[in-house]
Amino acid sequence: MHIVVHKTKCQGHARCWAQAPNIFKLDDEGYVLPGDINVAQEDELLASRAVRSCPESALEIDRT
Ligand code: F3S
Repeated sequence: MHIVVHKTKCQGHARCWAQAPNIFKLDDEGYVLPGDINVAQEDELLASRAVRSCPESALEIDRT
């Protein structure tokens, strides 16, 4: 699967990074970096939790 990052919705809560620092990268101000993220199959559960943890709905799972 991959994750679509809606960069304009990110408010820098950093919960995604706290849950999965190997998957989500933040810039110097604590905002998630833009660009789709490919997630390895073994990391999908962790990534899904991190996506749900974002209070701004800035992250979206795309399973296509
Ligand atoms: Fe941004 Fe949400 Fe992560 S607001 S830093 S995408 S928890």
